[in-house]
Amino acid sequence: MHFGFIKDVSSKHGRIFAGLDIGSTGVRVVVGEIYAGRKNGSSAAPDAKEANASSGAIVQIIGAGYAPSRGIKKGVVINIEQAVDAIREAVEKAEELTGIDIKTATVGITGSHIGYITSEGIIAVKEKEIGQKDVEMVLEAARAVATPFDREILHVIPTEFIVNGQDGITDPRGMAGVRLEAKVQIITGSAASIQNVLKSCEKAGLEVADIVFQPIASAEAVLKQDEKELGVALIDIGGGTTDIAVFQEGHLSHFSILAVGGSNFTNDVAIGLRLPFQEAEQAKREFGCTMLSMATPREEMEMKYSDARQSRKIPRTHLIEILQPRAEELFGLIRDEITSKGLHKLLNSGVVLAGGAVLMEGMDVMAENILDLPVRTGIPAGVDGERDIIGNPGYAAGIGLVCREANAHIAEHGLNGGGFIHGIKSKIGGLFGGVFKN
Ligand SMILES: Nc1ncnc2c1ncn2[C@@H]1O[C@H](COP(=O)(O)OP(=O)(O)OP(=O)(O)O)[C@@H](O)[C@H]1O
Ligand SMILES: [Mg+2]
Repeated sequence: MHFGFIKDVSSKHGRIFAGLDIGSTGVRVVVGEIYAGRKNGSSAAPDAKEANASSGAIVQIIGAGYAPSRGIKKGVVINIEQAVDAIREAVEKAEELTGIDIKTATVGITGSHIGYITSEGIIAVKEKEIGQKDVEMVLEAARAVATPFDREILHVIPTEFIVNGQDGITDPRGMAGVRLEAKVQIITGSAASIQNVLKSCEKAGLEVADIVFQPIASAEAVLKQDEKELGVALIDIGGGTTDIAVFQEGHLSHFSILAVGGSNFTNDVAIGLRLPFQEAEQAKREFGCTMLSMATPREEMEMKYSDARQSRKIPRTHLIEILQPRAEELFGLIRDEITSKGLHKLLNSGVVLAGGAVLMEGMDVMAENILDLPVRTGIPAGVDGERDIIGNPGYAAGIGLVCREANAHIAEHGLNGGGFIHGIKSKIGGLFGGVFKN
């Protein structure tokens, strides 16, 4: 992967980050750069400065590479060689577009193998004041919970600190106390699935800076801090999976992954209209809508066949009659998940939608009707760049991976600190870098 004009990210640019989102339908490599303040003539989102207000930094998305997924099913690598090819293709496209040699990336992971457990840690504080070291030690203690050999820890998220019996503390640093306790949520994944993602990246020539559970990455891009504090559900409807992640009091408090996504809609169209998958996909993207009430009466769509057969005209309502029940079923499943876990009343900031499948007309309205909550489509904040990337909810996870790495870098080195992060960060290192951000 060498082009004459390529800049070497790892040595010359200290502030460029790449995120790799290995989705069920598409592999995306997003490349971003951090800078202070707003660039002239940029098309930053109105609240672009908000997300990184504390550092004054803005993440500029320079470009992205996309390749259709191969060897990946519902977030899990099922064929290494094919997955490697897809990753390589996406990396090369991003390199061609940005002129940057991508050697390292933060990788998102999802799939029904992801689970969580809760744990607690306790330590005696040596100095009079609680410092970063104590926080690291108490989290290390909480982390030392027995996990089965076939599971790996992805994140340790502190939900609460307790100092000398006083609970409800979010950041104990600087406080006086002799006993520090931490309650944490530990997110784990199947060791084999994680290893297969790492292996695929390695074979594609990519060093993995960190592995991040995708909703945590997407949240970094599209959720505002006050939404996370008040209670919000981030629902990413991708091709193969729907990830529901609930944030409360600033951190991820619940998640579930449904094995349903945009591909199910396309399958229904393929069967219902007797079309090959590709043509059904095209019809869905071009004319798809989830609500018959939104369609203009007698509206027709022209179906063109890729094999040059004669095109035919079909009433658009035929397509919507297929898509609507699938959307109702999907949002019904989401509603059941939210209500059965008693989460509905906690979602004071409503629902934020992400993922490529929410681009279909009517998805947001149907979500609002069925979930009985305010709904908005997640557009990254604190991010600047091409509209077709930052305005596309399918890029939320990829952009979030860049933002997460950029924010961790700023927290560690400041805005102008150099050094692209190399290799796999020790999980503990990654954890402490982001301890108060999750
Ligand atoms: N304009 C559109 N209208 C309707 N559906 C769309 C549109 N654009 C993309 N999609 C659908 O979005 C889905 C892909 O979304 P996304 O890229 O977020 O998924 P992914 O990340 O590959 O999958 P997953 O997150 O499930 O692993 C596909 O099912 C695709 O058909
Ligand atoms: Mg996805």
